[in-house]
Amino acid sequence: MSSAPKGKYTNSALRVGDKDTYPQRLVGEFIGTVVSNVSVNDEYKHLVLKVHEHALRAYAGQMFHLLCPSPDGAEVWMRRPMSVYRVDKDAGQIEFLYKIEGRGTRGMATLAPGDDFNIAGPLGVGFKLQENWKNIVVLGRGVGLATLAPLSQLAAERGVGVTAILSARNAGVVMSRELFERLGARTITVLDTDNSSAVENVEKIIEGLIAEKKADAFFTCGSNRLLKLMQRLGKKHNIPGQVAMEQIMVCGFGACYVCMRTFEVDGKRVLRRVCRDGPVFNMQEAVGW
Ligand SMILES: Cc1cc2nc3c(=O)[nH]c(=O)nc-3n(C[C@H](O)[C@H](O)[C@H](O)COP(=O)(O)OP(=O)(O)OC[C@H]3O[C@@H](n4cnc5c(N)ncnc54)[C@H](O)[C@@H]3O)c2cc1C
Ligand code: FES
Repeated sequence: MSSAPKGKYTNSALRVGDKDTYPQRLVGEFIGTVVSNVSVNDEYKHLVLKVHEHALRAYAGQMFHLLCPSPDGAEVWMRRPMSVYRVDKDAGQIEFLYKIEGRGTRGMATLAPGDDFNIAGPLGVGFKLQENWKNIVVLGRGVGLATLAPLSQLAAERGVGVTAILSARNAGVVMSRELFERLGARTITVLDTDNSSAVENVEKIIEGLIAEKKADAFFTCGSNRLLKLMQRLGKKHNIPGQVAMEQIMVCGFGACYVCMRTFEVDGKRVLRRVCRDGPVFNMQEAVGW
């Protein structure tokens, strides 16, 4: 049976150049073409995908749900959520920066230029910048930096200054520095190897930025300990913040309730779906993990 999209079948995955039969929909299924998929270091790869223009509506903090190929011939059940690392509208490309963890991401690592890759999205609620914010502080660790990196794109478009504090185990796995710097952000790297990533040191750095009036808002992802630090400093100095949360997902669009997490809103504990209500949330409402 042909798998070619039928004229009235609005759910068909769109390839580059396909007619968009339902342009008003927010979320779509797309078959992108792999442009490149190269190792950034021993653990991370960077995938560039040429996609239908509809998919380029994704913005910082949103995610796609990826239908990963099998690394071993057996089925890979369920899609895997992945933040959009960069949207290059001129080139018609979406990029992902990913850590090879299990079968899904191992399968993704096998993708070669010219291969098809099926992605669904953009999903969720991403980062928002308020007009009165002139300077923001971004603090992330590990793969959380892939999620935070497109904030530099959003901030550059709005003329907002960014200081990005990049935390990592060692210098070899500092992620996203080039992207932040290319878009004009100032970066500060803190590492476990020289203990500069210790909470006390990061706190000193952020207090310095607050004193310099470089911290109108905080953004974080990838570490509970860093989230707690930013929450504490945010409360102390009355600085608003946003956190991108990660959670195991199944449907990715709000139907299964697998991705629930606890939040504290006006003194009450509430459950929210990370895939649909987030993944970006008010930092002070996140309970952490
Ligand atoms: C909103 C969101 C954005 C994400 N963005 C990125 C990103 O930009 N780059 C990146 O490398 N990873 C990202 N992740 C994590 C990514 O989804 C998981 O690493 C991936 O699903 C693992 O799949 P796997 O089949 O390779 O590993 P599995 O065999 O499924 O799992 C391997 C390990 O990863 C953990 N894991 C599985 N699914 C998730 C998940 N959804 N979230 C967190 N941990 C998980 C498992 O507990 C296990 O420890 C994101 C997750 C979420 C929810
Ligand atoms: S993954 Fe199904 S509701 Fe979030």
